[in-house]
Amino acid sequence: LSIPQFTEDLLIPDVFDPVTEWKCGHATHSYAVDISEFKQQVLPTGMPQTPVYGYGGVVKDRETGECVYKRSSPGPTFEAVRGQTIQVQYINRLVRPHMLAVDPTLHWANPNNMPMEPPKPWPLFPPGFPKAQAPIPTVTHLHGGENPAIYDGHPDAWFTSGEERGSAFVTTKMIYENTQPPATLWYHDHAMGITRLNVVAGLAGFYLLRDPADPWDSPQAPFGSPLPHGKYEIPLVLQDRIFNTDGSVYYPQEGVAPSVHPYWVPGYIGDCLLVNGKVWPRLSVERKRYRFRLLNGSNERVYNLSFSTGMTFWAIGSDSGYLERPVELTSLLIAPGERYDLVVDFSFCQPGEQIFLRNDARAPYPAGDPVEEATTARVMRFDIGTEPCLTGPRFCLPSYLQQIPPLRQDSPARLIVLNAQEYGSTVLMMTLNGLPWMAPVTETPRVGSTEDWFIINLLGGAHPIHLHLVPFQIISRQAIDADAYQKKWQELNGTPPIMNAPLAVPFEPYLTGPPMPPAPQESAWKDTVLVNVNEVLHFRIRFAPQSVSPCAARPGVNLFPFNPSAAPGYVWHCHILDHEDNEMMRPLQILP
Ligand code: C2O
Ligand code: CU
Repeated sequence: LSIPQFTEDLLIPDVFDPVTEWKCGHATHSYAVDISEFKQQVLPTGMPQTPVYGYGGVVKDRETGECVYKRSSPGPTFEAVRGQTIQVQYINRLVRPHMLAVDPTLHWANPNNMPMEPPKPWPLFPPGFPKAQAPIPTVTHLHGGENPAIYDGHPDAWFTSGEERGSAFVTTKMIYENTQPPATLWYHDHAMGITRLNVVAGLAGFYLLRDPADPWDSPQAPFGSPLPHGKYEIPLVLQDRIFNTDGSVYYPQEGVAPSVHPYWVPGYIGDCLLVNGKVWPRLSVERKRYRFRLLNGSNERVYNLSFSTGMTFWAIGSDSGYLERPVELTSLLIAPGERYDLVVDFSFCQPGEQIFLRNDARAPYPAGDPVEEATTARVMRFDIGTEPCLTGPRFCLPSYLQQIPPLRQDSPARLIVLNAQEYGSTVLMMTLNGLPWMAPVTETPRVGSTEDWFIINLLGGAHPIHLHLVPFQIISRQAIDADAYQKKWQELNGTPPIMNAPLAVPFEPYLTGPPMPPAPQESAWKDTVLVNVNEVLHFRIRFAPQSVSPCAARPGVNLFPFNPSAAPGYVWHCHILDHEDNEMMRPLQILP
């Protein structure tokens, strides 16, 4: 299948339009968002359309300003305002069997309660296992949102279009209070053991949280917002896919360990790159500054981005808000689940010039296949306008964006190892501390406490680790002799999976290098961090709202506007979706 590149304009997702009701001077903003299957022109016009799953609801039409129902993948964007509560009624309208092969041998939602060990030999897909293909469970998680657990999109809070409900299900209506600082959040499916398929099929979208008091992004600012805004502010989600000749998405139908997991693979890597749901799009830009809200929404692919001209750009924020200062970059590494808030200045480009956004990260990262010049080395193209350049001096960026108060540890540290159950050279499951999802909860921080987490990567690839509820601050990365450490760990604890908390093995004797600070663009509040091979990653996390000052939080004191200890609790996991779906996820229970 040969796909023409840069022939289609970038699509910018529509913005959901809420129904606003006033009661006693208080506005409630409600959204009805459905999840359904439809066809979309993902490949260039003239090529077959692609069946996708997407989110839909009432949006404001860009051209006419009229309110119309639209659905898309990525879904329409939520524009949320700090301090304004919204209600989102999610409606599952997925009625046909899943378009991709559901693997019933994983620990998964399993709405038909089929036996964990289906009969051998495994049927080819399609049809696969009909009882696994329908109905389709889904639950939406607001990634980076500080929300009560019942609205967090717990993996077991899934529901189908029929009557089936997961064990942690409470409601299909999520209430987001938007009390946290402004940030680039995103929403996506999180159903147990099937997230990778639902997200590849299309279930993801942006959630931009703004603060009316934000000095850099406020329509009320006396001279307007200093950051590029309006049509100069564009969200970009990077994804990769493989396509069948009929335009449908291809997902491997033979697992790496077919006698154990018939369809599961340790990481989905596509050979076509998509931005905002279009393969290799182009964007016509004026010779001005632009703000891009960048999200890696891929299952496993890590991108190392740069411009073909070698020009620099600025990072002004990451997952959970602004950096302290803008950081000038020539390249940017972004792992699944991470976001970067970027400012790119096209005003010094040649009129009519074509500039490519390029990628050179191997997949899987960092030791997999190199990118192909004709395909995965190119992400999108920017076509520079010919109008005269009207922007003023290059340095209109604020030099100081916000203070990020350093956290102070007040509770015991946690050691976490990233490991796996292996059979020969085949991975059967990926684990955190050797524990599968079902093992008793081990991460039980006290509300208000601040902990140091040391994540030790004993695996051959890099893993983006993500915690729900609160962001953290990266302290350092330090090289370790992972093989020697692994040997000691397994001597004491056995090989994964194990069912009880492992004995902690001090890592200090195995360190092979000094602690290195995070990259400057990582020095923001983060909720996802890439843990490299042979590395101990150290972050500090406080189980209090992000906006609380460091002196105010105390272990045992709940400063959240809700009870974070309430059922069903939270989760933390690897954001390679194929890992998360195969045990690399653990409960996170906040103690009162
Ligand atoms: Cu973006 Cu738990 O997920
Ligand atoms: Cu992983």
